[in-house]
Amino acid sequence: MIAIIPSAGLGTRFLPFTKSVPKELVPIMGVPSIQYIIKEACSNDITSFCIVINKQKTALKQYLTIDNALNTELKKKNKLFLVEEINNIIEKCTIQFIDQYAPLGLGHAVLCARELSKYNEPFVCIMLPDELLFDDQHEPTLLKEMHELAQQHTASVIAVKEVPLSQTASYGIIKANSLPNTKNCFLVNQVIEKPNPLQAPSRLAIIGRYVLEKDIFDVLPTVSAGSGGEIQLTDGIAALIDKGKKVIAYQYAGNRFDVGSPQGWLDANIFINNKQKKS
Ligand code: UTP
Repeated sequence: MIAIIPSAGLGTRFLPFTKSVPKELVPIMGVPSIQYIIKEACSNDITSFCIVINKQKTALKQYLTIDNALNTELKKKNKLFLVEEINNIIEKCTIQFIDQYAPLGLGHAVLCARELSKYNEPFVCIMLPDELLFDDQHEPTLLKEMHELAQQHTASVIAVKEVPLSQTASYGIIKANSLPNTKNCFLVNQVIEKPNPLQAPSRLAIIGRYVLEKDIFDVLPTVSAGSGGEIQLTDGIAALIDKGKKVIAYQYAGNRFDVGSPQGWLDANIFINNKQKKS
C-alpha cells in the first residue's frame, strides 16, 4: 500500500514560524514530525510514499534526500549516528513528490496523487503529517489493523478518536452505528466537516489516518468546495457513502497530538520527553 502524505497546506496555525519553514519539519524533541510519520508507516510495513508539496516546501524535499557532503563531514567527526535514522528511512523507502499548484484543500491535495490509482493495490493510505500518534509501549499498529479491516469488509476505514464537544468545529465528525462482532469499529452513515457543537452528530473526530478504497479518486473530482472554501477529503468520504460504499470508523485508543498547533506541539514534546526519560 502506498501512503499519501498531504503537506501542501499553509500551516496558518503555526505562523509566523511556517512563513519560511514547512510545518512538517517542526521538531518534536529534535526530530521533525515528518520523520515520526514515516517511521510509523514503516512499522506498519508501508515503505512507498507520495508526498504532496508546493514550491515553498523545498526544505522538506531536502530533508528527505541523502546529503552526501554532510555525511562525509559527520563521518570524519564520528558523528554519522546523528543522521542514521533519517538516512536509513530514505534508503529503505521510495519517496516521490507531487506538486499541488495552489492550496485548494486536503481533498484536492489527495486528488493530486491520483496517478497512484493506476497501481493494482485496491486501497490507498493517507497520513496527515501534523497528526502524531504514539502508543505507550510500541509503535502504533493502527494502519495495519485498518488495512486488515478494509480487506476483510471491502470497505474504506478511517481512524477516529473522541474529542470534547467544544472542539467539534475543528474536525470532521462522524455519525455511525457500532459494527456487529467487532471491537472499536463503527459503520459510518454520515461525515460532517467542522460542525459546531450543536450540529455535531457525535464526538468522534477523524484523526488523520485513512485507508481508502481507490474509488476516492473517482468521487473527489465531483466534490465542490466546502468548509473554508476548500475541497475537503471529508466531503469525498461523504460522497463514497452516498455512492453506497462501506466506510468503517476505527477508534484509536492511543495518544494523539495535533502538532500543527503550538499547544499540540508543546504537549507532544512533553509526552516524548517523558517517554525518553522512562526508557
Ligand atoms: P490543515 O487543515 O491542517 O491545514 O490541513 P494547514 O494549512 O496545513 O494548517 P492550518 O490549519 O492553516 O494551520 C491538513 C493537512 O492537509 C494538507 C496540510 O498540509 C495538512 O497536512 N493540505 C491542506 C494540503 O496538502 N493542501 C491543502 O490545500 C490543504
